[in-house]
Amino acid sequence: MSRILHRDLRRDPAVARSGRGLVLTAADGSEVIDASGGAAVACIGHGDERVVEAIARQARALAYAHTVFFTCEAAEELADLLVGDRPGGLSHAYFVSSGSEAMEAALKLARQYFLEIGQPQRRRFVARRQSYHGNTLGALGLGGNMARREPYAPILADCFSHVSPCFPYRERAEAESDADYVARLAAELDAEFARLGPDTVIAFVAETVVGATAGCVAALPGYFPAMRAVCDRHGALLILDEVMCGMGRTGTLHAWERERVSPDIQTIAKGLGGGYQPIGGILVAERVVRALAEGSGAYKHGHTYQAHPVACAAALAVQRIIRGDGLLANVDAMGARLEAALRDRFGHHAKVGDIRGRGLFWALEFVEDKAMRRSFDPALRINDRVKVAALGEGVAIYPMGGTIDGRTGDHVIIAPPYVAKAEDIDRIVERLGRAVDTAIG
Ligand SMILES: Cc1ncc(COP(=O)(O)O)c(C=O)c1O
Repeated sequence: MSRILHRDLRRDPAVARSGRGLVLTAADGSEVIDASGGAAVACIGHGDERVVEAIARQARALAYAHTVFFTCEAAEELADLLVGDRPGGLSHAYFVSSGSEAMEAALKLARQYFLEIGQPQRRRFVARRQSYHGNTLGALGLGGNMARREPYAPILADCFSHVSPCFPYRERAEAESDADYVARLAAELDAEFARLGPDTVIAFVAETVVGATAGCVAALPGYFPAMRAVCDRHGALLILDEVMCGMGRTGTLHAWERERVSPDIQTIAKGLGGGYQPIGGILVAERVVRALAEGSGAYKHGHTYQAHPVACAAALAVQRIIRGDGLLANVDAMGARLEAALRDRFGHHAKVGDIRGRGLFWALEFVEDKAMRRSFDPALRINDRVKVAALGEGVAIYPMGGTIDGRTGDHVIIAPPYVAKAEDIDRIVERLGRAVDTAIG
């Protein structure tokens, strides 16, 4: 048995040995198409020599220097590239080592912002059910994945509360128009502010496109502007978690670009470094930074490995490749092909209730009864069965249960690298089709 504390302690996972493009090769020589980029991470595919070279160059020159003493060129250039043109008013970047760390940084920065501007009574965050913001205690407390929260509930902070997500397939009433549904959700957020005391709320926090927990759920048009209006009315910040859906995954560098809002603080991670190095970050609006600069003069947070030179060099190379190779256009083109292929293959499938997503970020939600939208018994672990069958077909997709409430519901995510070609998309859907038929008929 392995000495690693693996996710599954009864069964060691296969040993992955190499990766090239979309293909991962295991130690036994078997190959799988990485159709989900792990968990929507491997955005430019595996083994890109340009990134490997950038990592080697940086490690040779300087692997580490503490940020108390130094900044480094790679971090500065990465920040320039991300916020140099002030997208949506975001003017500064801060780099950490994961999505969860990015969320912690966002929560603390938002709290500090209100201390700086003389509103110390603000201590609450409102997030959404069926969200995931990370596994560290702050991020876990913020998240609305009830199953993941439950075991740790006694040790989570009490400053977090949750409202409904914008989840049309599961939560819009039958006769409700999109506009009425959005208005209902805005009223619910407003009521939550009122319940908490509007001047006690620091921020409303949401994934721009919900990732793992509910499975690639994009908001309805008008939803984010409506939520932003509630935040603005009560002087709270808007924090958008783009750890999974951002950095090009949905076709624009930032998912909020298609939502007619921009956040005060945004978190990024997976597609930032594309898996070549562990790196996450926050992008921060100028007015938030200015409050700190004109106030205490410091961001009171820090990690030993923040803005790590090698991680920043890798992310810089990845981001240059996304721009230089025109990969966002490919995300849109291949995303359209993926959507069409999924609808063609699964649109009439009796056990596929919903097909949803944006860009190269798609999910299939499985149901036992399509007309009633009734999910499978969670004990059947349908999503895991599809994952195993898909691996048997040589394709890796990202499985998740608890789609509806953290306990019931099954979906899988298909999120191939942005470099996917038409034949890759076709092969992925063909293999996934066989896998779904094998797993659930
Ligand atoms: C939306 C979202 N936020 C935060 C996180 C946490 O990121 P990490 O696993 O890198 O800590 C994730 C991870 O899946 C995520 O999907």
